[in-house]
Amino acid sequence: MTMEWRRRHVLGLADFRVEEMEFVIDTARSMEEVLTRDIKKVPALRGKTAVNLFFEASTRTRTSFEIAGKRLSADVVNFSSATSSVTKGETLLDTAKNIEAMKPNIIIIRHHASGAPHFLSRFVSCSIINAGDGANEHPSQGLLDLYTIIKAKGKISGLKIAIIGDILHSRVVRSDLHSLGRMGADLWLCGPPTLAPKEMERTGAKVTYDIREAVRNADVVIMLRIQLERQKTAYFPSLREYSRMFGLNRAVFSLAKDDAVIMHPGPINRGVELSDELANSAQSRILNQVESGVAIRMALLYLLAGGHDAAH
Ligand code: CP
Repeated sequence: MTMEWRRRHVLGLADFRVEEMEFVIDTARSMEEVLTRDIKKVPALRGKTAVNLFFEASTRTRTSFEIAGKRLSADVVNFSSATSSVTKGETLLDTAKNIEAMKPNIIIIRHHASGAPHFLSRFVSCSIINAGDGANEHPSQGLLDLYTIIKAKGKISGLKIAIIGDILHSRVVRSDLHSLGRMGADLWLCGPPTLAPKEMERTGAKVTYDIREAVRNADVVIMLRIQLERQKTAYFPSLREYSRMFGLNRAVFSLAKDDAVIMHPGPINRGVELSDELANSAQSRILNQVESGVAIRMALLYLLAGGHDAAH
């Protein structure tokens, strides 16, 4: 597929066109070939610098952006707010302007405030990738989920995809609604009424409070963690009750199609939203998501830092 890539930032998938998502996936496919080689490194981004600017904890996103950059020979610098001058009161904008003065090509930012990457993109000249902003979006996760499902099922259109858990606080859901929804999935959102607001039906997804209805005949079941760090009040009586009503176990999963797969963006709270047995089962695609994440992030770095007008 050939396309002229014009985007300078990846702030969210809300304004991504289907052909742009397909182009990222197509680019990720060619990146994945590099990952199968003995020497997993190409010089595509030699001389380019990416800074991981993380104000929230991360295992998968931060590490995979770092590995993705290194696979492409970019210099990757990791910034952690906990060990930075943010602890002395430096603002987000001052922090970003100081990083920008060191001339990176890309800043990859994760921040607890929704809109932080969009705000920065107005003040810095380098590219910005949103690695998760509050409960707003997590675009690289939305793209890697899309890619993982395409690899598992060969398509998105017409698949019943159930997303179950803390819908209200999930930036993954918001990006998945754009990526999977725009590709024609039959999306179902499920959780307690306090965490799965009926208004979400405005997105085109169906909302149910019955996990069995969500899972019945599903092709893909995406489980979400309860984000206690974003909850200012009690949204359900107890984790035990939540797990009993909305946890995925073998009995509930047996309602899905025989070849259904299970996904989870991580980190998993084993035994709460997902049983140990299912997390480790042959139907689990959770580690495949992590693998796809490196290829998707290589594609994003390549397109933003070196692949303008790319054609392949
Ligand atoms: N999926 C995801 O964002 O995981 P991390 O918080 O570990 O980056």
